[in-house]
Amino acid sequence: MGVDLGVELAGLNLRTPLILASGILGLSGRLLVEISRIEDVGAVTTKSIGLKPRDGYPNPTIAVLPYGFINSMGLPNPGVDFFLKELDEAGSFGSPLIASFYGYSIEEIAETARIIASHPSVSALELNVSCPHVSGISEIGVKPELVAEAVSKVKKEVGKPLFVKLSPNTHLIVDVARAAAEAGADGLTAVNTVKAIAIDAELCKPILSGVYGGLSGPALKPIALRCVYEIYEEVEIPIIGCGGVSSYLDVVEFILAGASAVALGSVIALKGIMVFRELARGLSEYLERKGVRSVEEIVGLSHR
Ligand code: SIN
Repeated sequence: MGVDLGVELAGLNLRTPLILASGILGLSGRLLVEISRIEDVGAVTTKSIGLKPRDGYPNPTIAVLPYGFINSMGLPNPGVDFFLKELDEAGSFGSPLIASFYGYSIEEIAETARIIASHPSVSALELNVSCPHVSGISEIGVKPELVAEAVSKVKKEVGKPLFVKLSPNTHLIVDVARAAAEAGADGLTAVNTVKAIAIDAELCKPILSGVYGGLSGPALKPIALRCVYEIYEEVEIPIIGCGGVSSYLDVVEFILAGASAVALGSVIALKGIMVFRELARGLSEYLERKGVRSVEEIVGLSHR
């Protein structure tokens, strides 16, 4: 029996439901193109891009824990103009490119979206309103009315699909998801990292120079899964599940909770880029074992 791993996501055709999450492999156009051409990669997402270049925080920016990472990068990026030049020289993508972006105000979000979306290599946008350790970003993402305003402004200016990456650091996540959907978002990415801290017991101070960071990796998975499950109950647009995936069973669980696609982040740092192949094979074998012909048949199945 042939199992079809292809999924349709807000008008994008993905070879598999496995997406490179934002922030994992940066903004090099050539690297993103190379990854996009790997057979089992469904789509690739850039690191978040702002209107102007941003340095980010000094080291240390990552704390490695037995159950995940806490990062406090501080959104370092070279800005939109540099990124568009990168894309000009990158070659053609083998799977859709999702450009992640942020802004400190509704106007800046809309302007950044318009500039990035003008590049023909960009298939879709992902609005990051959920970075837990850069002030001015997650303040927008925890207010449903501000997210709605940002989404409708971007949708007026940009014809490409828009995903909103949600914060787990609020009990209002479903309200934010609903507000984004009602304002015209084409999909939701659930979730960004959980605000966290690591303390050095010898130095008696926080490890990260930015003090707070975002927890990713296996510790995040049950929280992310719960968020996807709750959002799926209330909102109809597609969800990209994101947070702590490290095995094909994690991928399956996110899909059963309601995700149409699943983004891989920290696991790439641990296992390398070919983890896409391992998870795609595992997913395919699981579907075959269950007598299911396509991923879409099991999206949200745990609710029924
Ligand atoms: C960062 O670059 O600081 C991480 C981005 C994020 O958590 O959204």
